[in-house]
Amino acid sequence: MKLVHLSDLHFPVPLPFSSLKGKMIPGYLNYTFRRRKKYPISLWNAIVRKIETTNPDAIVISGDITNVSHLREYNRSLEILKPVLSDKTFMIPGNHDRYTKQSSYGKEMPYYERFFSTWMGEEVPDQKGYLRVKKIGNLALVGWDSNMPLSVLNAYGFIEEELVHSTLEYLKREKIENYFLICHHPIWNPPERQESPGHRMRNREKIASLLKEKPPIAYLHGHVHTNWVKAPGPEKPFYVINSASSTRIADPRHQSGFHILDWNGRKLDIQRFSFSLEKGEFIQTETILYEEEKETNGR
Ligand SMILES: [Fe+2]
Ligand SMILES: [Fe+2]
Repeated sequence: MKLVHLSDLHFPVPLPFSSLKGKMIPGYLNYTFRRRKKYPISLWNAIVRKIETTNPDAIVISGDITNVSHLREYNRSLEILKPVLSDKTFMIPGNHDRYTKQSSYGKEMPYYERFFSTWMGEEVPDQKGYLRVKKIGNLALVGWDSNMPLSVLNAYGFIEEELVHSTLEYLKREKIENYFLICHHPIWNPPERQESPGHRMRNREKIASLLKEKPPIAYLHGHVHTNWVKAPGPEKPFYVINSASSTRIADPRHQSGFHILDWNGRKLDIQRFSFSLEKGEFIQTETILYEEEKETNGR
């Protein structure tokens, strides 16, 4: 089973300033001045070419398609994503896709669901929270939503403990032995890329401890815009894979790219790809692998 994991696409969509409201104003200014130039659409086109030649069994996108959850961004993102949207695609939202109250709890369906329901997997019925699943053979892709609209200064995440219990019950009921868990916020960070309380998943240690009962093959996420892979360890007995930000030009602080995962039923093979400015294509590069689970340097 070959899976392409993409994250934090943050598509460049120009927005009329007069159409911005509330926190979208500082959010869009921040994006325009700090990030827009880092996200030329040519990287996305190269990803599409790479997917076409790879012919994967699944394409997973772990959130942050938009920047400020503007309707125009949603409309345009749907157009841009079209070449990779099929029955192989599985998407979850990121905090930028739930940026405002209007986009998240409007009178009608939230914007993300309105545009992307078809590729968000099946909703597991009778759940208090977001639990969506896509089955591929006897394997499952399980999607969580750790996001909520917050003040412009915050980007933290949270997962209800009850949702972990419902997830594990679902897997038992359906007799699913192997699964990938997809959630936008990291459940583990390398020592040099620790997040502030305003940015991290607040109860991630608790969630990780509950997952020990039935660990996934891998936890796929984004949110921090630099790639990493953590090998299974005693506290988190699963791979943690960050493919953010797949569409960003790399710099020393942002080792951008994405991963292609190959699961043979027993072992996971992980390959990393990053964009070569010289070649104008994504090329295989060394995986940024952490064998150790500890998150602090030194003592
Ligand atoms: Fe992001
Ligand atoms: Fe994010």
